[in-house]
Amino acid sequence: MKVESAQEVEARNFIPVVKRHPRVIVEGRGARLRDADGREIIDLMAGWAVCCLGHSHPALVEAIAEQAGRLMQTTNIFYTLPQLELIERLAELSDGALPRSFLTSSGTEAMEGAVKLAHRATGRAKFVSTQNSFHGRSLGALRLVGSEKHRAPFAALLPESCVVPYDDLDAAREAVDADTAAFVVEPVQGEGGVNVPSPGYLAGLREICDARGALLIADEIQTGIGRTGTPLGYQYEDVAPDVATLGKGLGGGFPVAGFVCSDAVAETVQLGDHGTTYGGNPLACAAANAVLRVVREEKLAERAGRVGDELLRRLAGFAAEHPDRCVEARGRGLLVGLELRDPELAASIGPRALEKGVAVNVAAGRVVRFIPALNIPEEDLHEGVDRVLALVAA
Ligand SMILES: Cc1ncc(COP(=O)(O)O)c(C=O)c1O
Repeated sequence: MKVESAQEVEARNFIPVVKRHPRVIVEGRGARLRDADGREIIDLMAGWAVCCLGHSHPALVEAIAEQAGRLMQTTNIFYTLPQLELIERLAELSDGALPRSFLTSSGTEAMEGAVKLAHRATGRAKFVSTQNSFHGRSLGALRLVGSEKHRAPFAALLPESCVVPYDDLDAAREAVDADTAAFVVEPVQGEGGVNVPSPGYLAGLREICDARGALLIADEIQTGIGRTGTPLGYQYEDVAPDVATLGKGLGGGFPVAGFVCSDAVAETVQLGDHGTTYGGNPLACAAANAVLRVVREEKLAERAGRVGDELLRRLAGFAAEHPDRCVEARGRGLLVGLELRDPELAASIGPRALEKGVAVNVAAGRVVRFIPALNIPEEDLHEGVDRVLALVAA
């Protein structure tokens, strides 16, 4: 299909809330996409940090095909083998700190569940979150979002929010009070521009929450499943949250997400407090089980840490050589950003990179964000990065 035909269908039949690139993508293999005109694209976006095993990984394709031919949907009132396997695997991710889980179909729904859980566990209704954070677009998730761009148009539908600067323990200490149900934080902010907090930030938040009887919720939707070099993103510090939300990489491209919590929190809910038709269905769980198996067997979290460190060093070197163009490089694992000085240059990078055969996106208006598959071949990664950096330097 030609792009013009796609645009005609879109103009007639799509609700115009998305600005698209003029490409029809028809296939993905490993870290490469192919469009309808046969052009190959090195994928440094991985479906927004989703396709952690690359595109069409045989283990994931096989698991989905096998389960699709066996059983796709039952509702949560039956046990199914894939879901039982998955909730055991999810407990292992946190080394047992967060042994209970509930499955959903998107990250946003996982955030909704976490909000309800925190309300049940504390009886409180105030949530504190961080500036420039992103937690999803449903009303329960949007109330937490610290990015004005996303929240402001729907402010009339939302309860008053309490948003504090990221990586600021004094501000958190002031905001978290006896009415606070939870502090919600991304271990590394993704959409907010790849912001990495100072060492001790999560431990400080843990202490503040404990002192006020509030929960600590880690939004691991972008940082989890190995992306930042550990199974879950909070694990670079020696603390655990009470609740963590998962999504994106969990299904490697299949829509599956969920929230996990401690025994103490799980014990506060009542039968019927939450539910879903699709969440935790056997097909989604089979996909997630395949992803978690491959991530573990192929040590992809460790690899993301190692390859991400090299990428970060390389981008930091580039930023130092081009101080007129770049502010800095920052990141953890394979969630890495290069902040540019000029928002216009930043805005041009996505479309121009695509012309050079690379898919890359820009977060928070200025930060070129690298979130490839955790198993991306290093040649593909560096070839893609070469092409992007050439555009920044030009
Ligand atoms: C940190 C974080 N939380 C929540 C979400 C929302 O997830 P979803 O788009 O699957 O609903 C996102 C999506 O980008 C995210 O990055």
